[in-house]
Amino acid sequence: MNYIGSKYKLLPFIRETIIQIVGKENLTQSIFYDAFAGTGIVGRAFKSKVKKVIASDTEFYAYVLNRNYIQNHQPLPLEHLYYLNTLQGKEGFITQNYTLQGSSRNYFSIANGKKIDAIRTEIENLKSKISEDEYYFLLCSLLESADKVANTASVYGAYLKHLKKTAQKPLQIEPANFEINDHEHEVYHGEVETLIHQISGDILYLDPPYNTRQYGSNYHLLNTIACYDIFEPQGKTGLRPNYYRSAFCSKEQAPAMLEKIIAQAQFRYIFLSYNNEGIIPLQKIQQIMQKFGKYEVFTQSYTRFMADKPTERNFKAKATLEYLHFLEKQA
Ligand SMILES: C[S@@+](CC[C@H](N)C(=O)[O-])C[C@H]1O[C@@H](n2cnc3c(N)ncnc32)[C@H](O)[C@@H]1O
Repeated sequence: MNYIGSKYKLLPFIRETIIQIVGKENLTQSIFYDAFAGTGIVGRAFKSKVKKVIASDTEFYAYVLNRNYIQNHQPLPLEHLYYLNTLQGKEGFITQNYTLQGSSRNYFSIANGKKIDAIRTEIENLKSKISEDEYYFLLCSLLESADKVANTASVYGAYLKHLKKTAQKPLQIEPANFEINDHEHEVYHGEVETLIHQISGDILYLDPPYNTRQYGSNYHLLNTIACYDIFEPQGKTGLRPNYYRSAFCSKEQAPAMLEKIIAQAQFRYIFLSYNNEGIIPLQKIQQIMQKFGKYEVFTQSYTRFMADKPTERNFKAKATLEYLHFLEKQA
């Protein structure tokens, strides 16, 4: 999934730096907490390397992705997934509010809107007959497959006027495969600032939002498919009312919140991903982290994911410097 702030391309840099600091042997005995997990790509990179991965995110769609990719670790049957693909489309909340069938919003083709409604409804019907693991596997598979046929430039903050090529393709639900592994892992839907009191471990990886763009508005439709609740869609893009607003998207609140989390963290190794375009200045991060122990910083230049197509004017802004701040916290 194309995701704002995804660390997919930075994985080798993050993984190698963490392994180098913690040590391969130590790592196998470690509890790794990916606190702002998003797509779960960082936790997934450590799933087979550590004793346990814990992941959390405030967005429900991200909980669903991580609940599947991280917490699911034993093989699951595929019959229900194949059966979902045989369903006929059926008009429901998504068709009525996010396709041209019942609204002016062109997020999905009408046929795909109906398919999403039919599959989502059936997943809920199956809920009492299948395991919780399988429920989240099916839901995650639907989210990933729906995202592939969404008629957006990238995020759900806007839809395209005309159906683009990929949005014209019929939705096909593909299995959201996860790594099979003997260890138990844990996933939470919630704020780091609350969870940090109840979770302890060895390695804390922090990857907070770095600008003012709220994930709850940019990915609202994924939450709507995941929750499948009834509400009055707001405005031109059909936003969910009262979507979650993160303190890390606020220039005023972000530095104090970061400090609070680091102060309360019961972890020896703390890593923070942030880039040179973030709302917390580099010096401020260094000042905060240095208060709590031995501090170091690693950098990598990186071509970041852009929500809009690069133009001549903004092309230069594409290359950013990505920092991996490291703190060995004093007990
Ligand atoms: C930069 S993204 C993480 C990207 C992720 N590492 C990846 O590669 O996919 C930041 C994530 O933090 C989540 N978030 C924002 N505020 C949060 C909070 N207070 N607690 C937990 N998660 C939060 C957002 O929903 C978003 O998924």
